[in-house]
Amino acid sequence: MKKILVTGGTGYIGSHTVVELQNAGFEVVIIDNLSNSNVEVLNGIASITGVRPIFENLDCLDYVGLDKVLTQHEGIQAIIHFAASKAVGESVEKPLLYYRNNLVSLMNLLQLMPLHKIRHFVFSSSCTVYGQPDELPVSESAPMKPALSPYGNTKQVGEEIIRDTIRANSLINSIVLRYFNPIGAHPSAMIGELPNGVPNNLIPFVTQTAIGLRKQLSVYGDDYNTPDGSCIRDYISVVDLAKAHVVAMERMLHQKCDSNLEVFNIGTGNGLSVLEIVKTFQEVNGVTVPYKIVNRREGDIEKVWANPEKANNVLGWKAEESIEDTLRSAWLWEKRLEEKRKESLRN
Ligand code: WQD
Repeated sequence: MKKILVTGGTGYIGSHTVVELQNAGFEVVIIDNLSNSNVEVLNGIASITGVRPIFENLDCLDYVGLDKVLTQHEGIQAIIHFAASKAVGESVEKPLLYYRNNLVSLMNLLQLMPLHKIRHFVFSSSCTVYGQPDELPVSESAPMKPALSPYGNTKQVGEEIIRDTIRANSLINSIVLRYFNPIGAHPSAMIGELPNGVPNNLIPFVTQTAIGLRKQLSVYGDDYNTPDGSCIRDYISVVDLAKAHVVAMERMLHQKCDSNLEVFNIGTGNGLSVLEIVKTFQEVNGVTVPYKIVNRREGDIEKVWANPEKANNVLGWKAEESIEDTLRSAWLWEKRLEEKRKESLRN
């Protein structure tokens, strides 16, 4: 059984990817410092796949600790690197925390890979590297625009660190996946998004408003140059996104890559506005989401959605879940969290 290391594997996208890796027959070792996730997620993964992943509570900033874990778990064939700080707003307030955490962790892993004869590396990047693209849908060949936040810059610089490392050491090969907007939860509602505190992202705020945890949703602007005035994004099911990582992993392990560094946009190719999302969420779930239009949010881009053709035709992956089903999964997950909250109040 091929062994894969998943850093950040108890996180939102990481945990869904661990499930799909296990479903595909891989053995998974998770490294996570639990700074933005909960060890309970391991039970959620085990309840879906029947297999509890090996878990090491470790910070990827700890080079010596990483070296020990890679020695202990010899036979790791590839790394999928999710572990990073990812809140755009927080990165503006704490840039050095973001540069240190996101870039030193990445460099630690790249430095250790050759020492442990690990060749394959999947990097979690983001459409944020494009900024506001000049052309839509946006393709991988679109130029990177100056990042609007330190978070976005860590993704741009991270990709450049990988590129330069591979140039110097052709034994490493990497697939970079540029995510659009991951949303929803596993259909079992055993794992999902666990935002810390007040959600920054749209969908958890929508579901928390619908369940009554938040009074109303603030829609950040309806004066953009879009059909209904609100921003447009490419919302992709987190399960579809997770499956893209398995396809990327298998491509590398079976040496099907066209080069040592391949980049893919992982999106649906469909752009939906904030107001369309709110409307669809209410319709498919039969709930009301009170909202008010407020001022634009600093740093938001107006509209972005993927040209997914390269991922479809070269990687052999395509988003399958409908936005309706994804929004249903988000609501089911929020209801399960509500049950858990009530349970903990009873005990
Ligand atoms: C989506 C749209 C908001 C909240 C960022 C990062 C990206 C990834 C996902 C980490 C925007 C609007 C939101 C709210 C709103 N990060 N909105 N009210 O900003 O597209 O992407 O998060 O993985 O890399 O850049 O996602 O969900 O924050 O916002 O109106 O309460 O919803 O203005 O138009 P975003 P988001």
